[in-house]
Amino acid sequence: MIYKTHNLGELRISNIGEKVTLSGWIDTKRDLGGLTFIDLRDREGRTQIIFDIDVADKEIVELAQKLKNESVIKISGIVKERYSKNMNIPTGEIEIFATELEVLNTCDVLPFQVSGTENVSEAMRLKYRYLDMRRPQMLNNLKMRHKMIMAIRNYMDEQGFLDIDTPILTKSTPEGARDFLVPSRISQGEFYALPQSPQLFKQLLMIGGIEKYFQIAKCFRDEDLRADRQPEFTQLDIEMSFVTQEDIMDTIEGLAKRVFKNVTGEEVNYSFERMPYFEAMERYGSDKPDVRFNVELKDLTDIVKDAGFTAFKNCVANGGVVKCIVAPGAAEKFSRKIIGEYEDYAKTYFNAKGMAYIKITEEGVNSPLAKFFTEEEMNAIIKRSGAVVGDIILIIADVKKVVFGALGALRLRIGKELNLINNDEFKFLWIVDFPMFEYSEEEGRYQAQHHPFTSIKTEDMDMFMSGEMEDIRTNSYDMVLNGSEIGGGSIRIFNPEVQARVFEKLGLSEEEAREKFGFFIDAFKYGAPPHGGLAFGIDRWLMVMLKETSIRDVIPFPKTNKGQCLMTEAPGKVDTKQLMELSLKVTLDEDKNKI
Ligand code: AMO
Repeated sequence: MIYKTHNLGELRISNIGEKVTLSGWIDTKRDLGGLTFIDLRDREGRTQIIFDIDVADKEIVELAQKLKNESVIKISGIVKERYSKNMNIPTGEIEIFATELEVLNTCDVLPFQVSGTENVSEAMRLKYRYLDMRRPQMLNNLKMRHKMIMAIRNYMDEQGFLDIDTPILTKSTPEGARDFLVPSRISQGEFYALPQSPQLFKQLLMIGGIEKYFQIAKCFRDEDLRADRQPEFTQLDIEMSFVTQEDIMDTIEGLAKRVFKNVTGEEVNYSFERMPYFEAMERYGSDKPDVRFNVELKDLTDIVKDAGFTAFKNCVANGGVVKCIVAPGAAEKFSRKIIGEYEDYAKTYFNAKGMAYIKITEEGVNSPLAKFFTEEEMNAIIKRSGAVVGDIILIIADVKKVVFGALGALRLRIGKELNLINNDEFKFLWIVDFPMFEYSEEEGRYQAQHHPFTSIKTEDMDMFMSGEMEDIRTNSYDMVLNGSEIGGGSIRIFNPEVQARVFEKLGLSEEEAREKFGFFIDAFKYGAPPHGGLAFGIDRWLMVMLKETSIRDVIPFPKTNKGQCLMTEAPGKVDTKQLMELSLKVTLDEDKNKI
């Protein structure tokens, strides 16, 4: 090797006396008269290099003195035992007395310091991502991403899965988000869609007899971005034939444990709890509950429905529910102002009409509700909530959707703000039996909650066939880790009649279904095996395992919340010539385009 005999995290006491050649970036440099100390860095670590006027030629020492941080150099020299050892780094017992130096590349003025702990804005980190990934946080995250992907590939290979790739230029897939479109030059006026997931292709692979498929697949969804969402993200996509839901969940659980062990070093030695969707909503107000702390929603509907508080009474009479959660030990900590903030949060983000509270103190109950309830009713509420002296009960009355949304979110706030969550703990669980349909207020119609190829539970089939839309359960499962949905999947419909009926219920006419999925529906005529699968969000899962709060910190080159790449400045304008080739014209008003 011309550039390196060793990497920069490798040399130890046992190498003393050896002549080595090392290459890397200058992490830090100190000049002490005739001695120049350089900490040389590469992906594997740092090694101290000394240029000593008594050991090396004068020109070399002078050249070393002029070097700037982050320049790339190659040195050769002898490994010596270090006089003052640094036991914080693995190479801290040795240093190299350099006798040769070659400057491979110099570094200009840096936009931010790469070494050290300077706090750098995310915008700068994204613009100069190649510098950011020289720093320990990103470097470690990228190494962990590699470990995760290797663990996945090894496990899937051991289990007999074939790694098969599927097209990026394709037709719209039904994952429910907006598509990214790519205009076709050859078929003018027509568009490809980037895949929201390889869903249709993986099912076709099953019809093609592949039996066990996986892929680390890029997916594209033009949706509103959040801390755990990107427009372009990576899935571990899986599909299996001739399997039951149990078979799939067992295989996937084994995979989850292997990946977790490889990334965190910790063993998961429990079977993942399987909680039905409706139970998760009733108990946690969420289909991805963080079960590391045991504050749960409690139902007060039966207690308050005939009591003297009109708002609750009317709510129940109109089909609503009244539920509560307890903020343990919050009576002292939560002032009226904080309780007001909680109420505003529930109102602003979840459309709650209000939030009532009951403070339980040594002196008794303190609540604006007190005058509306008898002592007996108040005691029944407290008993049902499970609250004790020192706690606050928060109550919301509304339609189920609002109550679940608001109390589910307040529960998480309470967990964080009252330090009820052990951040070192990881808790996996399955949420199963999701409903087939959900009503979209925006669209004014039912939509598939997962996707239209999800099979319906045998027990609910009659209900479905008789025209019911609400509460029809599917053979589906999501994997949740610490309150994040890291993966989800289902057993698929493989009966063409049931599939046709689902399309019909979703308001797709036969022609529309044919136009969108004709090739897919046809394939089922030629012998489809029973099949099912799941997809993990690799980025999101890694983010949770590494305790990062932004998905961008585990993606090499992510987009901002506005979908921009700050480094390449995509998306960007294109030449008129390019547009003409595609017969496209940008009609946007220039002024409106300004941000
Ligand atoms: P689903 O849409 O639930 O299922 O996606 C699977 C997993 O992908 C992750 N994910 C995302 N991660 C980052 N950014 C996003 N915008 C984003 N959207 C989703 C989540 C999610 O659990 N084809 C089906 C799977 C199947 O049925 O087999 C699918 O894509 O972690």
